[in-house]
Amino acid sequence: MIVTTSDLFKVAYGKFAVGAYNINNMEQALGLFEGHMKAQAPFIIQISKGARRYAGVKMLENIIRAAEEMYPEAIFAVHLDHGDEQTCYDCVDSGFYSSVMIDASHEPFEENIAITRRVVEYAHAKGVSVEAELGQLGGVEEDIAVDEKDARLTDPDEAKEFVERTGCDSLAVAIGTSHGAYKFKGNQRIYLERLEEIQKRLPGFPLVMHGSSSVPREEVERINAAGGALDPSARGVDPREFAKAVPLGVTKVNIDTDGRLVWMRVHREHFRDHPENFDFRKPGKAFIEAYADFIVEKSRYLLSYGQLETVRQALQQAPASH
Ligand code: G3H
Ligand code: 13P
Ligand code: ZN
Repeated sequence: MIVTTSDLFKVAYGKFAVGAYNINNMEQALGLFEGHMKAQAPFIIQISKGARRYAGVKMLENIIRAAEEMYPEAIFAVHLDHGDEQTCYDCVDSGFYSSVMIDASHEPFEENIAITRRVVEYAHAKGVSVEAELGQLGGVEEDIAVDEKDARLTDPDEAKEFVERTGCDSLAVAIGTSHGAYKFKGNQRIYLERLEEIQKRLPGFPLVMHGSSSVPREEVERINAAGGALDPSARGVDPREFAKAVPLGVTKVNIDTDGRLVWMRVHREHFRDHPENFDFRKPGKAFIEAYADFIVEKSRYLLSYGQLETVRQALQQAPASH
């Protein structure tokens, strides 16, 4: 069942984080639903502009609709990841999305506010909630390359002003993470103390952690042992940090890269071990199963494992909101 992102956040705030996973194809969708059913956890499906271009808007929407029918017990929201203004409007108009992210974080503060405010007005009029971003993550986001030197953490006072002036429903904050497999070099780290300062100024307001993949060392080693060429120094977020971020207001944790690593490991090992195979269903099936196991493990760290019934009951009691 597709629900509103706000409804998930109301149940989750302070208790668990909802995992938000990007999908591009059927295999990811099947693994995602299978894993969340095993974990009895609610979740968010994220669609990026790149995914919309890759699979096609209709194809993605119908994959999700099909999965919804196949897994009638699943409770999830559908979210646009890192949208620009026009893509936000397109997604709101489609009537399919629970929420959209307007990412104008690369713009100056006032311009970010103006763009976000426009999207909020448009989306709220149609019952869709809005995630915005303030501060800049390092690494690469969609088409925007942010030089790591310029990456800056979210300013807590600005965060309060930004939320008040835009009316956004959740805020992606920069607390030291970045997208991709190479998050931390040298003494780089995650700044939970910054999160605490933001929460003090925005109590009860849902915060979002982007760039939350863990890039497990053993996964990188297995990929490289099967012919991959990832930098062995690749490092991500220690997943035990999620449990510390939850009481500080993080209700949504974005994970994409780790799923790509599962895909890469399964396929590389499969073709290394079965060089004669040309049936894509064999590694495809292995990936779906491995991805489902991966989801179960993530949901334990996010504390969303086993929360499905709590969410179901809360939804039955409260009228839907955007
Ligand atoms: O933050 C971006 C997500 O990892 C999605 O990546 O734009 O390549 O689909 P993508
Ligand atoms: P990762 O690259 O750490 O998986 O982050 C994904 C993300 O933030 C999507 O918006
Ligand atoms: Zn992101």
